[in-house]
Amino acid sequence: MVIYLDHNATTPLRREVRARWLEALDRFEGNASSLHGPGRRARDELDRSREQVAAALGVHEDEVLFTSGGTEANNLALLGTMRAHSRARLVTTAVEHSSVLGPAARLEAEGREVVRVGVDRRGLPAFDELLERASAARGDRAPTVVSVMAANNEVGVCPPLDRLGPALREVAGSRVVLHTDAVQALGRCPLDLRGWGIDLATFSAHKLGGPVGVGVLYRRRGVRVEPVMTGGGQEHELRPGTENVPAIVATALAIELAIAEREEFARRADELARALWSGVSRAVPALELLGPPLSPEGSAAHPDGTRLPGTLNLVAPHVDGKVLVTRLDLEGLCVSAGSACASGSLEPSHVLLAMGLDSERARAGLRISIGRATTPREIQQAVEILRRTLG
Ligand SMILES: Cc1ncc(COP(=O)(O)O)c(C=O)c1O
Repeated sequence: MVIYLDHNATTPLRREVRARWLEALDRFEGNASSLHGPGRRARDELDRSREQVAAALGVHEDEVLFTSGGTEANNLALLGTMRAHSRARLVTTAVEHSSVLGPAARLEAEGREVVRVGVDRRGLPAFDELLERASAARGDRAPTVVSVMAANNEVGVCPPLDRLGPALREVAGSRVVLHTDAVQALGRCPLDLRGWGIDLATFSAHKLGGPVGVGVLYRRRGVRVEPVMTGGGQEHELRPGTENVPAIVATALAIELAIAEREEFARRADELARALWSGVSRAVPALELLGPPLSPEGSAAHPDGTRLPGTLNLVAPHVDGKVLVTRLDLEGLCVSAGSACASGSLEPSHVLLAMGLDSERARAGLRISIGRATTPREIQQAVEILRRTLG
């Protein structure tokens, strides 16, 4: 028996999404750019999927671009907007995913100005500093690209984008291009792209029950982005390459379902996370829960930012997170130390370091993330395994 509590790394393909994907594989064999019948059928289906995603997100279809995943969408958002504005600077935070920090480092190496705003002990970026850095007057009126994730994949902290977006507009108007990496947030946290003034947003299908290898970049009409790759004219000339129509069809359904079921998912995942923390903290009192406090049942969101439903990051004293993950795996519990992308590395988590943990504790973080199919019984069993392993 395996208990899988690593849904922030990837969550299983939903049954109905798998069925739609297989059906589309049989039906759509043409290249969506070809003019013949099979090509036109693939194009029609691609258009329908784009409309479906746009309707679920509450945006226009021409604002939806398909990519090969969240990583590519983040690269396109950051490199693409910065290259479209040769004098723009980038303001981001110290706790972003590597697919944001990587392009930021590349831009810096190319001589561009990049600011990384720090976070507090809960992992929340300094709100006033973000506003100040984004609106700092510059003689040439070049825009500032601001990239702040909607939910952190390691700790689960959600910065208050609902306040940040409107506040940025108030201080900097259209001189700010606001991007959010919402890979972990979609289908789990409220997200109002239009209402919060978001210009670009990144999503990934495999984090919400869709296939691995499909991402979405929302790009508000009028936001200038340069393509990062060269090739054909697909995806509004911004992302060359033949579209994977069957996987995109599956992604559209996964996104629609995740958004429709968000509140129910959040309620259940919060309940299970509370049960897990209450059981494990009683069994192992030395454990520390990182990030904002778990909201008590039925409480309103924390004013400074909330917690991603179902994500817990625990630190056990004097334990290496990666050693612990291996021991838990032998016991049948799948969790992770930090993010999946970094889990092969021996480096301490950059997120936990930014939150002020020393390097020993920043290596000790254990991420537990709950998914749609997680049951109360699995949570009980996970508590028991954690108690045996850590107690
Ligand atoms: C916050 C965040 N952004 C981006 C990504 C990258 O997405 P993908 O795996 O689709 O490339 C991930 C995946 O771990 C993530 O958690």
